[in-house]
Amino acid sequence: MKGIILAGGTGSRLYPLTKVTNKHLLPVYDKPMIFYPLQTLIDAGIEDIIIISGRGHAGHFLELLGSGSELGVHLTYEIQEEAGGIAQALGLAVDFADNEPVTVILGDNIFQDKVRNEVKSFESGAKIFLKEVPDANRFGVAEIRENKIISIEEKPSVPKSNFAVTGLYIYDPGVFDIIQTLKPSGRGELEITDVNNEYIRMGNMSYSVLSGFWSDAGTFESLFRACELLRNMKLGI
Ligand code: G1P
Repeated sequence: MKGIILAGGTGSRLYPLTKVTNKHLLPVYDKPMIFYPLQTLIDAGIEDIIIISGRGHAGHFLELLGSGSELGVHLTYEIQEEAGGIAQALGLAVDFADNEPVTVILGDNIFQDKVRNEVKSFESGAKIFLKEVPDANRFGVAEIRENKIISIEEKPSVPKSNFAVTGLYIYDPGVFDIIQTLKPSGRGELEITDVNNEYIRMGNMSYSVLSGFWSDAGTFESLFRACELLRNMKLGI
């Protein structure tokens, strides 16, 4: 299995912190943000990883991570020229994926759970990871009926459940054909939620519910909360 870290976007919600470096390199307690999704992939047994970043301060990724040899992985880099959305960034990895399944993680998502078993046992279709949260309206939200996801809504004002779709996805190579068919959403981006809804429509979507801590870190509040939770975890508070 190959791994893809999506670290695009302009980081405008964290301005001016993102004026001099990339959002995914900001500190989350004692490590640069991207170390966490990278470690999630490494813990899942993935060694061949591409980082897709926006243009802003992209060279900083290389300075920090280099070839990946210090971490025992092989890193490749790709640039997303415009902020065209998560699905557009994923589409840039088509050659890297080389017709194999991929595990995709957002560069600002921090997971406590280990997903090695899910990665190892993946066969086809798509798999997403849900987490019960109090503020589901900030995320993609899964509507579940009889243990099946029947739809995902992106940032609904009235969420149909408390299950947020986290930024961790496993896809078969068909994902790249689906991305080709997407149209930009209201915010002018190719949405990962539209990709996932297509897998649901085809009856090829499975899911797991995470039990450990999960947070994004792309806003001042979530970044602060992620720092606090990681500090508490590390110090055993
Ligand atoms: C993105 C996805 C959303 C998902 C979230 C997880 O949102 O579009 O479905 O729940 O990541 O962090 P964004 O961070 O682009 O607003």
